[in-house]
Amino acid sequence: MTFKKRFTLLGKALVGITALAAAVGLATPAVAGPPPSASGTQVVGGSRAAQGEFPWMVRLSMGCGGALYTPKIVLTAAHCVTRTGSNTSITATLGVVDLQSSSAKKVRSSYVYRSTTYDTTGGDWALIKLASPVSGIPTLPLASSAALNTGTFTVAGWGAATEGGAQQRYQLKAQVPFVSDSTCKAQGGDYSSLIANAEICAGSVSAGGVDTCQGDSGGPMFRRDTAGEWVQVGITSWGTGCARAHAPGVYTEVTTFASAIASAASKI
Ligand code: ARG
Repeated sequence: MTFKKRFTLLGKALVGITALAAAVGLATPAVAGPPPSASGTQVVGGSRAAQGEFPWMVRLSMGCGGALYTPKIVLTAAHCVTRTGSNTSITATLGVVDLQSSSAKKVRSSYVYRSTTYDTTGGDWALIKLASPVSGIPTLPLASSAALNTGTFTVAGWGAATEGGAQQRYQLKAQVPFVSDSTCKAQGGDYSSLIANAEICAGSVSAGGVDTCQGDSGGPMFRRDTAGEWVQVGITSWGTGCARAHAPGVYTEVTTFASAIASAASKI
């Protein structure tokens, strides 16, 4: 047996795996995903979320994440949508970690509300009204106190598992530590323009390795409140690359906009 033949066999096996991935509807992965129970180097530096672990997580068809805020409203990022107004073009997928699952709930949008301050004083948030309410899916409340803007946060989504990598079929999760505004700003570049009251940073500044990434935008950053309940403290917004050292993730500071979000939601 020659090396050439062995390579030929290996080549066929890889083609077969790629074809199988295409057949099940996966984008050809840049990095192979781990089995459901395994943790891997995947958000970036995270692991697979269990079915039902973060039931309010929403995948939006334009390639963003979101969180179910009321049975009829999804909270996402302003940069994921173009404008306020009627919009029936977005599909929200809910209730599953596996986007290919036959038990996924899929609901169309009916209206979009985009934060009016995003382009000026900051506020990367938007609301997507669903054409019909979803039942049996818990919502994620907004953090009510800025005292919760510290500690360790959880992030989740179906975005890239590596910088420049493919969107994910299975929801990934990771834990990211709070980064102060002063440390975040001190990283330079785009971080110099951080809007301290509108943005909250998180990630491993010195080491990198764990972060949200492209396609996670709009998804929630959350933690447990003093009563032990999950509350939303951030909305995935931006970062320089993904999981780089000295380039933490930047999230919309939800406590700053909680009353504006609640007010807008009550009017749409
Ligand atoms: N803006 C990105 C998106 O549209 C999210 C980027 C988050 N990046 C980061 N390094 N935390 O999906």
